[in-house]
Amino acid sequence: MPIHSFSRRDFMQASAALTAMAALSPVLPAFAASGLLTRKIPATGEDLPVIGLGTSRTFDISVASEEMNSALEVLKTLLAGGARLIDTAPSYGESQAVTGELLTRANAHKQAFLATKVSATGREAGMRQIEQTFKQLQTERIDLIQVHNLQDTSTQLQTLRELKQQGRIRYVGLTHYVESAHDDLLAALQKDKVDFVQVNYSVGARNAEKRLLPWCADHGVAVLANRTFEAGRLFAKVKGKPLPDWASSELDASSWAQLMLKFVLANRAITTVIPATSNPRYAADNLLAGQGRLPDADLRERIVQLFA
Ligand SMILES: NC(=O)c1ccc[n+]([C@@H]2O[C@H](COP(=O)([O-])OP(=O)(O)OC[C@H]3O[C@@H](n4cnc5c(N)ncnc54)[C@H](OP(=O)(O)O)[C@@H]3O)[C@@H](O)[C@H]2O)c1
Repeated sequence: MPIHSFSRRDFMQASAALTAMAALSPVLPAFAASGLLTRKIPATGEDLPVIGLGTSRTFDISVASEEMNSALEVLKTLLAGGARLIDTAPSYGESQAVTGELLTRANAHKQAFLATKVSATGREAGMRQIEQTFKQLQTERIDLIQVHNLQDTSTQLQTLRELKQQGRIRYVGLTHYVESAHDDLLAALQKDKVDFVQVNYSVGARNAEKRLLPWCADHGVAVLANRTFEAGRLFAKVKGKPLPDWASSELDASSWAQLMLKFVLANRAITTVIPATSNPRYAADNLLAGQGRLPDADLRERIVQLFA
């Protein structure tokens, strides 16, 4: 899919979204000017912004509901701030259909980098699910489809490779979300060459650092980090604690969320983080983690101690 080139109409839409962002927080205009960090997808050298969006639970809403308004603001805020990647899945209830509908309402299919998954057993079931996914996402091309939680990996990867050859998808990948599956995930990566892996990694769940992330860095596999807030639970660990002064003076971080995301992004194997939210203010907050300084080893250790 070509990188989006901005028309006047796109510019007006982006300007409107930036105005909305400015109302959300006075720091965001400075952010918009300085831009979001990007990392390269090793398979192609394509640049991908480091902040993305997850959709599990948060976008599992009715397309007819009023909640669509704030979900649309989340999407517009992220896109206006330079983010592109949205991760969804056919098993996330309404999330995949909601993602497709929001992209249509925002006229943003071209700008977005769409990542979804296949979770089926058997070739026919996988192909049926993928066709339904194209319909729900309201698109003829999907950037990335990942085998969800290593379900029937070799069968589904074969289908995904065929779709890639046909030009209907651009990248293939594998996912998991628990540390007990990391060895299996690494074995699958070593067996079959893929473009992306998606794995859980956070300041509170660091197993991926040991073998998986170094292997991906050495072998040219892009990494999406999921559960960077452990589904929100990490916030409870710092509830009531003030953010240390060094967060802003040494890391340009103004919230706990930014500190957690910067911890993850400091690992150079990570391509993009995909925190989920239904709240436009949180989306703006998360965007700010994608600019400014990232922690070195010493600062990473200090962040770990805050969550110990
Ligand atoms: N097997 C897999 O492939 C797999 C498994 C798990 C996850 N994933 C992907 O990874 C994504 C992220 O994981 P996740 O959804 O489990 O959890 P997560 O991103 O670790 O946490 C999401 C929670 O954090 C809250 N939050 C987000 N930004 C915040 C901020 N700036 N300040 C305070 N709270 C904030 C959200 O609150 P609100 O709800 O109030 O907005 C939400 O409850 C998923 O949505 C999915 O796309 C994939």
